Amino acid sequence: MSSPTERSLVLIKPDAVRRGLLGEILSRFESKGLVIEALELRTMDGSLADAHYAEHVDKAFYPPLKDFMTSGPLAALILSGDSAVEVVRSMIGATDGRKAAAGTIRGDLALSNRENLVHASDSPESAERELALWFPKF
Ligand code: PPS
Repeated sequence: MSSPTERSLVLIKPDAVRRGLLGEILSRFESKGLVIEALELRTMDGSLADAHYAEHVDKAFYPPLKDFMTSGPLAALILSGDSAVEVVRSMIGATDGRKAAAGTIRGDLALSNRENLVHASDSPESAERELALWFPKF
């Protein structure tokens, strides 16, 4: 039984772009059958970072996270497909690359909980909020 098509907001973070992993990460999502509905290379500014991470702005880890996320270009994507939000989250793995399961993007390619390659919406409600911030015309 298939679930309704969903959309997820995915950011392939500056560390992935710097490390030349953009193609590999996009390829994993495409191979899974997810559809890239939009793709933009952008550099996040401070105000977008504060809005995107609104629930984390008061946490101790936020200032270095903001510095990192605004440090260079990232790829912003809309991915769609059946249960896309849950599927993408399971493909990227746990936040901390040192603990993420092998076979996941972070588990295979990351060793950090900050420079962990990919952000993905954690619920359909978060996806709608984040898509409105990043892709208001979609
Ligand atoms: S929390 O506190 O459980 O809600 O945090 P979590 O959902 O695991 O992570 C939210 C985002 O914050 C980043 N993060 C960190 N950055 C820097 N240092 C530390 N210690 C740290 N812990 C969490 C994490 O990479 C998540 O980024 P996104 O872009 O959402 O993946």
